[in-house]
Amino acid sequence: MAVDVSQIASIETEPGTLPATMTAWVIREERFGEPVDAFQLEEIETPEPGAFEVVVRVMAAGVNFNNVWAALGEPVSVMKYGDHPEYGHHIGGSDASGIVWKVGPGVTRWKAGDEVVIHCNQTSYEDPEVHGLDPLAAPSQRIWGYETTWGSFAQFTKVQAQQLLPKPRHLSWEEAASYGLTYFTAYRMLMDQASLQPGHRVLIWGAAGGLGVFAVQLCKIAGAQAVGVVSSPEKGELIKQLGAVDYIDRNEFKGMMRRGGESPEEEKARFKESRRFCKAVEEKLGGAPDIVFEHVGRATFPTSVLCVKPFGKVVICGATSGYQLDFDVRYLWMKQKQIIGSHFANAWEATKANELIEQSLIRPVLWQTMGFDKVAESHQLLRDNKHLGKIAILVGATAEGQGKTADGPGAIRAEVGA
Ligand SMILES: NC(=O)c1ccc[n+]([C@@H]2O[C@H](COP(=O)([O-])OP(=O)(O)OC[C@H]3O[C@@H](n4cnc5c(N)ncnc54)[C@H](OP(=O)(O)O)[C@@H]3O)[C@@H](O)[C@H]2O)c1
Repeated sequence: MAVDVSQIASIETEPGTLPATMTAWVIREERFGEPVDAFQLEEIETPEPGAFEVVVRVMAAGVNFNNVWAALGEPVSVMKYGDHPEYGHHIGGSDASGIVWKVGPGVTRWKAGDEVVIHCNQTSYEDPEVHGLDPLAAPSQRIWGYETTWGSFAQFTKVQAQQLLPKPRHLSWEEAASYGLTYFTAYRMLMDQASLQPGHRVLIWGAAGGLGVFAVQLCKIAGAQAVGVVSSPEKGELIKQLGAVDYIDRNEFKGMMRRGGESPEEEKARFKESRRFCKAVEEKLGGAPDIVFEHVGRATFPTSVLCVKPFGKVVICGATSGYQLDFDVRYLWMKQKQIIGSHFANAWEATKANELIEQSLIRPVLWQTMGFDKVAESHQLLRDNKHLGKIAILVGATAEGQGKTADGPGAIRAEVGA
């Protein structure tokens, strides 16, 4: 049965009461494949909040690459994880802004009507790691709207109360829904994992991308100097506007990219290009970087290890160009460099990072806002690499710009990230 999305923004119940059903974009195992086919609109039961849970009316949602993987069912089926076996469906979406609609037993910090943004880390509060180590170390740790269902591409989403953060009042719904996953990840990488300090020199790969735009801004406000790697002068100008001291266009160093399987001669030539790149970085920063901000993986990792200064840190959270990393380890041990893995952020980091947004010290960077009918299409754009930056989806909001209740600079509009 075709689902009518024209009424997506109207809810018949008042905060505190949930309608029996809601409209959602649903992925099911039997239709894993291209996002345009895998995402289908369905009318589905509205989830009730359990203990320490909250159901939020989604006003806007953010699009991330994780739900391209969820649609494809690759490299693993999300249906094996979290609460998927219980419900048998996947409602994706790991970024949202919205209104608390109903709170479950035990929730005291939030009440129906509160305006919130949502961070995407879920963990069982019963795991001891949560109480003294870090929720990211807990065996129950999951990314909401990817490894769990009830994500943000629906009229309502079910989350743990600890995932809620106050919505920055000067941002519209779509601006507020656009930054959580990438920004909080960049915050943990730099502020906690790599202990960014004033005066540090930082090299940022993909500096105009989803993570990079926040890494650059964090360096600026921390009093560190950042040089960003980008693939066009337009992106370079954007990151200078965000606070980078300069940029390097990677097209001028194509030969440094590691493909894997290079012959000894090819590797020698590649290494020479990496050295030339490192020299350019040092010239721009006035010295070798204390920190390299990595998420590209195979293509750039040998260069990252080479570039970072003795005792410096390469912090990595992803591997867009390939997971199998291959580098000359002598440059690591002889110069006592460190490689640090990082994954999303905990609630404390998300809270501290969100405060910087509330203070307008960090600004979201948004490319396009689309209607709820475009959820499948927007993921196909990412899949086909036809996007030019961050996409937000209007769900409860009927137009861009709604939801601002205070003056402030809002998001930077830019074509970035592709
Ligand atoms: N573990 C976590 O919690 C976490 C969280 C968020 C993201 N991630 C991962 O981190 C990666 C980046 O995420 P994102 O949101 O920043 O993606 P994005 O918006 O697509 O930006 C990544 C940027 O990296 C650059 N890039 C891509 N391929 C490259 C290559 N072969 N060599 C050099 N640069 C390359 C591109 O910039 P230029 O073309 O301008 O160079 C691109 O814009 C993804 O793999 C994502 O899955 C992990």
